[in-house]
Amino acid sequence: MRPSLTRTAHERLRQHLHAGDIAVDATAGNGHDTLFLAREVGPEGHVFAFDIQPQALEETRKRLEEAGAESRVTLLHAGHEEMEARLPREVHGRLAAVMFNLGYLPGSDKQVVTTPVTTLQALEQATRLLAPGGLLSILAYRGHPGGREEADAVHEPLSALHGFTLETIESPGPVLFMARKERI
Ligand SMILES: C[S@@+](CC[C@H](N)C(=O)[O-])C[C@H]1O[C@@H](n2cnc3c(N)ncnc32)[C@H](O)[C@@H]1O
Repeated sequence: MRPSLTRTAHERLRQHLHAGDIAVDATAGNGHDTLFLAREVGPEGHVFAFDIQPQALEETRKRLEEAGAESRVTLLHAGHEEMEARLPREVHGRLAAVMFNLGYLPGSDKQVVTTPVTTLQALEQATRLLAPGGLLSILAYRGHPGGREEADAVHEPLSALHGFTLETIESPGPVLFMARKERI
């Protein structure tokens, strides 16, 4: 069963996203979140999905194809810390949502995990790339080695971020951060 905070993140994002929106999945993994975002933005919208593992992008591609949603998604074999450089200029400042699901690829050997340095670089870029009113969703797991440290590393700058309203949703396992960019 998928963790309940994943459902919470999806519920919040579902309330927020509209057809035609542009969104980013910063950690494509097995593609569940990418497909979710693709469904929410609809055929007029677009999703950019990042992952550093070819296996993850292949799983995501298959999932999208099965759902007939592949044309709404650009899969990027790159670290999310390259987000600003890899996204087309015309979408900068126009993203409705950026979603992070940290940790390792479920079903893999767990050797490749997100790490605080690159995660923080990506988060900083995401704050600039979001549209006013845009939503940043970060699900951080704390059970694997380095997971708790990463969750703490993310929490600190998020709580000090100007121009954002942060909601922290705790559970005995993972923690979910939802940060909304204020409209100016
Ligand atoms: C918990 S999984 C994501 C689950 C996914 N959102 C889903 O719905 O199936 C985390 C993913 O982050 C990827 N990852 C690790 N470091 C990364 C980085 N610097 N940039 C982008 N993806 C990264 C891993 O390869 C892994 O597939």
